[in-house]
Amino acid sequence: MAYLDIRVDQAILLFLLLLAVYFSTILAGRLIFSPLVKFPGPRLAATSFLYEFYYDFICRGRYEFKIEDLHDKYGPIIRINPDELHIRDPEFHSQIYVNSGVRKSSRPASHRNATPSRESTATTLDHDHHRQRRKALEPYFSKNMVTKLEPEIQRIVKRLHERLWQHKGSPTPINLFEVYGAVASDVVTAYCFGSSWGSLEKDNYDADTSHVHMFFTKLMPIFRLFPSLLTLSLAIPEWMIKDPGVVQMQRYRHRVEKQVADVRRATSLKKAGGAGKGITGHTTIFHELLERSTLPPSELADHRLTDEAITLVGAGLVTTAQTLAFVSFYLLNQPEALAKLQNALEPLMVSYPAKTPTWTQLEAVPYLNAVVLEGLRMHGVARRIARIFPDEDLKYKEWTIPAGTAIGMSASALHDYERIFPEPHFFIPDRWLEGDVHLKRKYWVPFGRGSRACIGISLAYVELYHVIAAVFRPNGLKMKLFETNESDVKYEHDFLFPSPKEDSKGIRVLIS
Ligand code: HEM
Repeated sequence: MAYLDIRVDQAILLFLLLLAVYFSTILAGRLIFSPLVKFPGPRLAATSFLYEFYYDFICRGRYEFKIEDLHDKYGPIIRINPDELHIRDPEFHSQIYVNSGVRKSSRPASHRNATPSRESTATTLDHDHHRQRRKALEPYFSKNMVTKLEPEIQRIVKRLHERLWQHKGSPTPINLFEVYGAVASDVVTAYCFGSSWGSLEKDNYDADTSHVHMFFTKLMPIFRLFPSLLTLSLAIPEWMIKDPGVVQMQRYRHRVEKQVADVRRATSLKKAGGAGKGITGHTTIFHELLERSTLPPSELADHRLTDEAITLVGAGLVTTAQTLAFVSFYLLNQPEALAKLQNALEPLMVSYPAKTPTWTQLEAVPYLNAVVLEGLRMHGVARRIARIFPDEDLKYKEWTIPAGTAIGMSASALHDYERIFPEPHFFIPDRWLEGDVHLKRKYWVPFGRGSRACIGISLAYVELYHVIAAVFRPNGLKMKLFETNESDVKYEHDFLFPSPKEDSKGIRVLIS
C-alpha cells in the first residue's frame, strides 16, 4: 500500500510538473516569443483567451465595449487576445477589408470554431478555398438574379401586409422582430430551396426559427474556447441537452438537412426525367448548385451543403429582421421622420396593394433611401470580423503587423465617427440627403467590405425597401409602440448581432 501511495504521489507530482511546463511554454510563447509582444494592450489579454471570454460570456457580450476602453488607454492599435490585434482608426478600414486583387484574406480559426456550420463559405478559413466556394454562390446573389426573384418577394410582402391587418384592433401586442423574421425566413428559404418555410402563415410567426440564432450566438464564446463541446452538443441526443439554444439549433439543423435532402432528391428525379424542378418554378440556389455547379463532389456532399444552407438562412434572417425592427422603432418613435417618409412614398404607394412598385422605383425615393442607410448605419453588424493576411506583412503607422496575424476593426469605429456622422447615436435620415454623401458612404460599412463582404446585399435591399414601403405607406396600417422605448434598441451587448438590454421584450406594437 505504502509502495502504491508513493507511486500515486509521484504520478501526481509528475503530472503537475508536466502541466506547469506545458502552461509555462504557452505563456512564454505568448508573452516573450510571440511576434505580437511589441503591441500595446493588457498583459492578461495577451496571456489568455480567458480575458476575452470573461467579457464576452460572463459579462454578456461586453468585449466590444471593453475594447473601446482599451483603445482609450493604449492607443489605436492593441492586442486583444493572444492571437489577435484590433485597430480603431476609420481611415485604415479600407486597408484591412480588401478585395482579392489587393491581397489574400483568410479568417482566424476562432471564427469557424464557434459556429454550427463550419463548412460554409462564410466560415471557410483559407483564402483560396473561400474564393472557390464563394464563386459558386455569387451568380445567385447578383442584382440581376435578385430582380428575377422580386415577384416572389413582393408576394411575401403582400402576405405580411395582410397578416398585419389581421391584428387590427387586437389588444395583444406583436413582436416586430418575430414578424419580420418570418418574412426574411420565407424569402431566404424560397430563394435557397424553391419552397419557403411558410413562417408567415404560422400563428406565432415561427418565432423559434427567428430566435434560434440569437439564443445560439450567446453561447459562441464557450464554443470559441472549447470547439469540441460544440461538436459534441450537436451530436448527442436531444433529451440529454438542457440548453434551449442548443436544442433549437439541433432541430434547426435537422430541418435544413431534410430540406437539402429534398432538393437532392428533386434534382436526381429531374436528371432521371421526372418532375423535379424547384417548387416555385424559379431558379433556386441549391437546385442549381446540384445540377450545374462545377464544384468538386466533396463540396456538394450533404453535410457541406447543409452547412452552407444553415449559414445562408441564418445570415439572411436575423440581420434583415433586426434592421427592419429597429427602423420601425425609430419611425414610430419619431413621428416627423415617419411623416416625411409617408409623404415621399405617397405617389408610388397610393394604390398598394393592387399596384406594387418595383425595387428600382423604390430605390429612387430619396427619403426611403435615407431611412434604409441610416437604419443600417445604426444597427448593422457592429463587431470586429478579423482577417488574416497569410502572405504579407501590413504596415500601420510605425507598426508592422506580421503576416498570419488576425487583425480586425469594428464597424462601430466608422459608424460612430463623429467627424462624419455628428450625433452618431441618433437616427437622422436627413444626414443622407445633405452634405458630402459620397464621403459618408465611404465610412458606411454595414455589409463589410472586400472579398468577404456580405454576399446577400441585393437580397437584403430588396426586402428592406419593399417591407418599409408596405408597412409605412400613407393611409395604411396605424401602428403604435407598446411598452417599447429607446432602451429596447440601445446597443448594450454584442451577441454577434448588436443587441439591446437582455430583459428587453423586443419591439412590440399594437395595430389600430
Ligand atoms: C440587413 C441585412 C444584412 C446585413 C447587415 C448583413 C451583414 C453582413 C456582414 C457584416 C457580413 C460579414 C462581412 C465580413 O466578413 O466582412 C456578412 C456576410 C455574409 N452575409 Fe450578410 N448581411 C445581411 C443580409 C444578408 C442576406 C439577406 C444574405 C443572404 C442569404 C446574407 C448572406 C451573407 C453571407 C453568405 C455572408 C458571408 C460572405 C463570405 O464570407 O463570403 N446576408 N453579412
